[in-house]
Amino acid sequence: MVESDRRALVAVIPGDGIGPEVVEEAVRVLDALGGLTLNNFPWSADHYLATGVTIPQDGYDQLRGCDAILIGALGDPRVPDNAHARDILLGTRFALDLYVNYRPVRLLDDRLCPLKGRTCADVNFVVFRENTEGLYAGIGGRLNAGTDEEVAVQHEVNTFKGVNRIIRHAFEFAKTHGHPRICMTDKSNAMTHGHALWQRVFREVQADYPGIEATHLYIDALAMLLVQDPGRFDVIVTNNLFGDIITDIGGALQGGLGMAASANLHPGRTSMFEPVHGSAPPLAGKNVANPIGAILSAGLMLDTLGRSDDARRVERAVEGAVKAGEVTRDVGGTLTTREAGDAVLRRLR
Ligand code: NAD
Ligand code: IPM
Ligand code: MN
Repeated sequence: MVESDRRALVAVIPGDGIGPEVVEEAVRVLDALGGLTLNNFPWSADHYLATGVTIPQDGYDQLRGCDAILIGALGDPRVPDNAHARDILLGTRFALDLYVNYRPVRLLDDRLCPLKGRTCADVNFVVFRENTEGLYAGIGGRLNAGTDEEVAVQHEVNTFKGVNRIIRHAFEFAKTHGHPRICMTDKSNAMTHGHALWQRVFREVQADYPGIEATHLYIDALAMLLVQDPGRFDVIVTNNLFGDIITDIGGALQGGLGMAASANLHPGRTSMFEPVHGSAPPLAGKNVANPIGAILSAGLMLDTLGRSDDARRVERAVEGAVKAGEVTRDVGGTLTTREAGDAVLRRLR
């Protein structure tokens, strides 16, 4: 929360591919609402290829000095090992300890639903993805790389602290936002060490929330049910990798990945907001990318900065544009990125 007498400082990292194009639309929305100072950071594949620097030594400190971070997408075919994205995107999640990846999945218009016979009433849930450990911890190694004897090991890290804080956050969110149900999903039938910890902690935490119906599904079954019967889901909590995968399914359920927004949070600290999609290299520079995921992510940022009225205005403006069909081609419209941004901006005023 930022005191109202001070302009909040927002770090803007447009990134790669379509990142700069969609972020520009989100920035136009933020400019229209006012009250923010936006600082641009050039960290990207271009910057890395030109300078050899992914993120400067004091980069995370610079970000900590801001009230929030808005980021586009990172990923470029010229950086096949993804070194810059690891430092800029994953590095920020880790360095700023942004342990909650909050990814709401809400269908804004029945016409956008890819599932036969489903409506907005069926697609409205939130995913809490653990964001600092799991298979993303970067622990592992390769032996005899590039030979037929190659051995590649990638460890999945599950700590009591990490699992406990994301599960508690999900329950607390369910309680404070009036969600009656929460589902934890893992693969504890096969991953008998790491996911046994998820089972234990989920049981312990649910005992503290007797008013909330707590269920469990294995991730394979949950993936199927997301497609077959998304209406049964309300709050989902899961690990880093499973959360990554099911939120792309969530993107599809909303009409396409371009619609999906997310927040990387550490409650009370500088947090980072980004569309769920990537840099979509084939679309880059063509003014065709859907800016809605980025605009809705800026909306989530306003919420976190204590500006919930403005956040609701953004959501309503987006919903209005979507219902009017004033959207880009990926979601059935005819507009360019810029025109789709205009359609939202017109409804803000
Ligand atoms: P992607 O999300 O870039 O694209 C997947 C599909 O969705 C493509 O068909 C693309 O055209 C479409 N799409 C995505 N965003 C769209 C938008 N805003 N409007 C219209 N269509 C959109 O995923 P990918 O192709 O697997 O990855 C491309 C690069 O992005 C890779 O380098 C990957 O590592 C990176 N990536 C980055 C992030 C991030 O920065 N948060 C997320 C995912 C992928
Ligand atoms: C996301 C992306 C990232 C992730 C990639 C780019 C490392 O897919 O934010 O969903 O896996 O977290
Ligand atoms: Mn992803």
